[in-house]
Amino acid sequence: MAHHAVSGRAEGRRVARKIIIDTDPGQDDALAILLALASGEALEVLGLTCVAGNVPLGLTTRNARRICELAGRRDVPVMAGCDRPMGRDLVTAEHVHGEDGLRGVDLPAPTMPLDSRHAVDFLIETLREAAPGTVTLVALAPLTNLATAFRRAPDIVARVADIVLMGGAHRALGNVTPVAEFNIHVDPQAADIVLCAGAPVTIVPLDVTHKALVTPARNAAFAALRTRVGQVAAALSRPTGRESARHGGLGAPLHDPCTIGWLLAPDLFAAREVNVMVETGSELTMGMTVMDWWGVTGRAANARVLHDIDADGFFDLLTAGLARL
Ligand code: RIB
Ligand code: CA
Repeated sequence: MAHHAVSGRAEGRRVARKIIIDTDPGQDDALAILLALASGEALEVLGLTCVAGNVPLGLTTRNARRICELAGRRDVPVMAGCDRPMGRDLVTAEHVHGEDGLRGVDLPAPTMPLDSRHAVDFLIETLREAAPGTVTLVALAPLTNLATAFRRAPDIVARVADIVLMGGAHRALGNVTPVAEFNIHVDPQAADIVLCAGAPVTIVPLDVTHKALVTPARNAAFAALRTRVGQVAAALSRPTGRESARHGGLGAPLHDPCTIGWLLAPDLFAAREVNVMVETGSELTMGMTVMDWWGVTGRAANARVLHDIDADGFFDLLTAGLARL
């Protein structure tokens, strides 16, 4: 399983890495999208493919466009994808993200149109048209869109440069059940399809994102930007009591932007090649990611799993990125 370099070089100049962000905005998705859009020299965002997750699909597509317009990027295609998991009822997270999915901010309703293409068609067409190994899929949500695309067009799997997904947990406890992380738990069948498809996968699990805590000082740094984006970032990431209480009252974890941090500055992270499988049978452990850290199963490694982060370096990167918008 070859992982392609983070970004290429052509005639000595840096070529931005092409990415598609699959997302369910979602407060932390919003910050990930902003950081990606602020990093044009390294990342070319080909489109946002939306899926039901934190809130229903109609709200994730609305929020994705609100964030693009906040960043001044009405040019980025935003597409609607799957409105429910492959084999289970949709579970949403309004208690975390608010009824509209972007608790805490009063961004206007979007004026940019939703792209008419279905997100799954966009994934398939874009991967077929691009040179193999040049498009990275950044998955910040339940993996329903990606799994549906892989099922409908198996030929695209070999064309994927990398799938960088926020999801799962190794030693960290689950955040939606005692053992399962939300993105995997919402659609475990989809996660199983993606992890077993054979494309390069980089997993950013709760073990990493629980070290990326938005402390009051880090939140204040967003506000200190004194820009609309800084204000929104501070509002979106203001620690809630419940989330912060789980982490010693220090702050709430910032999950999705860690995927973009990896693409921009992989040296801020530690990683290990590991076999990862998903529980899709037992309701007790449904959506649990079983990571064979010591190789005791003999199963081949199918994922690069991040397990540590330089949190100060990451927040410096994120704050500097937001300052550019
Ligand atoms: O478990 C955290 C993940 O679930 C994040 O992607 C968050 O946005 C929610 O989708
Ligand atoms: Ca998300």
